[in-house]
Amino acid sequence: MKELQAVSSSRARMAALAIFLLLWVSYAYFEVSFSMANKMSALLAVVFIGISLALGPLTRFFPNAFGKWIPHRKFFGILGLALALVHEFLSTMLFPLAGLADPSNPKAAAFYAGLLALLVFLVMGFSSGEEYARKWGYEKWKLVQKLGYLALLLVIVHFVVMELKAGVFKVRPAGQAVLAFAILVILLRLAAWAAGSPEKRGFREHVAAVQTPLRRKGRK
Ligand code: HEM
Repeated sequence: MKELQAVSSSRARMAALAIFLLLWVSYAYFEVSFSMANKMSALLAVVFIGISLALGPLTRFFPNAFGKWIPHRKFFGILGLALALVHEFLSTMLFPLAGLADPSNPKAAAFYAGLLALLVFLVMGFSSGEEYARKWGYEKWKLVQKLGYLALLLVIVHFVVMELKAGVFKVRPAGQAVLAFAILVILLRLAAWAAGSPEKRGFREHVAAVQTPLRRKGRK
């Protein structure tokens, strides 16, 4: 909790609260129940982790609009991870783990995709600081941080398969918007890779790189 406060500003916290309220109205229709808390924590995890992952490519394309949000990347990432853990905990209360993990269960692949994604987010969360970039070497550290996009892809699979009812993807419109946002984050990352970005050789250069276009524009 202390770490979350340290990496957030009131602006980031207000944005997170606004997103929560928006989903509670538009997705939950004000419902308060364990089942809805599970769905809400899952959807909010996707949104916050998605924001954290999207800020890199967005700043690459629109430095003035999104550069100022880069310092809050960690806040959204950690908040998303915490909510994914809440979702995992509530899911195993509401849907017995043995049933979910059973390979004969048609949702088993979705369960393992969610579990793997959660493990990747945990490793990313714990290793996001400079000390791990030094310990592992920059290239290995960067690879681990990039695994987040692959994990988001696993979450998309998890989301779609979990919500297939008799072969039909059935979620409320706000849930569909969250899914569309997650897909957009992946597309943004692919576009940024296609556009190319300057080679970085270390953690500090990595952190500075997303802010450089902003500073350059500010000097004009
Ligand atoms: C071991 C880890 C996980 C387990 C056991 C799990 C379990 C579940 C279950 C049982 C559902 C169906 C809930 C329902 O229909 O009421 C579900 C849906 C979902 N899960 Fe997970 N999940 C895990 C990991 C994750 C992760 C890491 C994320 C995202 C970061 C995630 C995002 C979602 C989303 C978005 C839904 C659809 C919610 C909706 O109904 O709109 N899950 N999950």
